[in-house]
Amino acid sequence: MEELQAARARIDRIDAELARLFAERMAAAAEIGAWKRAHGRPVRDPAREAELLARNTARIEDPRLRPYFGRLLETLLVESRRWQGEAQADLAPVLRRGALAEAGAVLPRQGRIFLVTDDGIPAPYVGALAGQCRSCVVYSLPQGEASKSPEQLTELLRAMLAAGLTRSDCVAALGGGVVCDLAGLAAGLYMRGIDCCYFPTSLLAMVDAALGGKTAIDLDGVKNAVGLFRQPRAVVIDPDTLATLPPRQLANGLAEAVKMALTHDAALFARFEDPAGYGDPEELIAACLKIKSAVVAADEREAGLRRVLNFGHTLGHGIEAAAEGRLLHGECVALGMLPMCAPPLRERLRAVLERLGLPTYVNFHEIDPERVMAAVVHDKKAGPEGCIESVFVPEPGRFEFQRLTAAELRARLMLLAQN
Ligand code: GLY
Repeated sequence: MEELQAARARIDRIDAELARLFAERMAAAAEIGAWKRAHGRPVRDPAREAELLARNTARIEDPRLRPYFGRLLETLLVESRRWQGEAQADLAPVLRRGALAEAGAVLPRQGRIFLVTDDGIPAPYVGALAGQCRSCVVYSLPQGEASKSPEQLTELLRAMLAAGLTRSDCVAALGGGVVCDLAGLAAGLYMRGIDCCYFPTSLLAMVDAALGGKTAIDLDGVKNAVGLFRQPRAVVIDPDTLATLPPRQLANGLAEAVKMALTHDAALFARFEDPAGYGDPEELIAACLKIKSAVVAADEREAGLRRVLNFGHTLGHGIEAAAEGRLLHGECVALGMLPMCAPPLRERLRAVLERLGLPTYVNFHEIDPERVMAAVVHDKKAGPEGCIESVFVPEPGRFEFQRLTAAELRARLMLLAQN
C-alpha cells in the first residue's frame, strides 16, 4: 500500500513537471509560428520533424519504450502545429480610423509587396498603402464577383510569377470580399504559400470576408467551390474608407452584420431595430469582429460551430447564382435569412432589412426558383442523403442547426414570393 502511494506520488510529481514543460514547449512553438509568419515560411517542416522525432526517441534507453515515446512526440508535434494555427486565428485585426495610413507597420520589412486591388478602389487608398511599401507592385482586378474565377486566379498567379515574387514577399489585398478571397487564395497557392495581409475597404469584408482565413474562387456557377483555409498575416480595418462606399455596397455589408446580430447578439439586433439608426459603424464593426473571432477561434475549419456563419447563405447562394450578377452577395444573404427565421421574427427582420435598403422579396418571374434550387443542392453545404445543413433562428441571439430536404427548402424559398 505504501509502495503504491509512493509510486502515485512520484507520478503526480512527474505529471506536474510535464505540465510545466508542456506549457513551456507550446510557448516556444507559438514563438516559432510567429517567426515563420513574419518571414513567410511554412508552418510545417517535415524534415525537421522527422529528425527531431528520431533524435529524441533515441534518448530513451529502454528500447521497448521507444515506440511509446515516439507516438507521444508525434502527438505533441500535431498539437504544436494546431496550437500555432490557433494562435494565428487569434491574431486580432487592427480596427482604427486612419489605420490605412499606418498600415506599413504590419507589412513585412523585408521583401516586396504585391498589392492586389480592383478598378473600383479609389486611387488615394492604393497610393496610401503603396506609399508605405519599400518595394511594391500594384495589380488591379476588374471589380465584381466575376473576378472570382479560375481564369482570373491563373492570371493573377502569372502576374506574381512575372513579377518574380519569392517566398519572402507578401501579398497585400486592398478591397472588398472578392479581392480578399482571390488574393488570399493566390497567396496560399503561390510557391506553396506566401504571406498575405488584408486591408478591407467594403463593410462586407470588414465584418466578415476578411476575417477567419477563408479564401476561394467560384467554379462552374458554384460559389466558393475551390479554396483554402489560410489565416492572413494581418487584417487592418480603416472605417474611414467606408466614406466612399456606394450606399448599395454599404447595405450589402450590413446584411452580414445583421446575420451576426441575429445569430449571436440580441442587443445588437435591437440596435438595427432602432428607428434612429444602428449607430456608429466602427462600433458595429467591433461587435461583429468579436462574434466572428470567437466563432473562428472555436472552429476555424468549419467542422461544426462555424457553419452558423452560413446563416442565410444556403438559399442566399442559390439566389445569387440564379440572379447572375443582378443581386449582390449581401442582398442574397438578406433574402436567404428571412425564411430561416421563426415567423414573428421574420416580420421584424423584414422591417429591418427594408429600412437598410435590402431586398425582402424575390420576383420569381425574373429569378427562376428551379435554378435557385439546382444551385442550392450543388452548393458545398449539401450533405449526405440529399439533406442540406441550414441554420434557423427562433429569436434574436439564438440559433439551431436544421437538416432540411430540398423539398422543404424549396417551400421556404417560396415564402419570398411577393403576393
Ligand atoms: N463567411 C462565413 C465564414 O467566414 O465562415
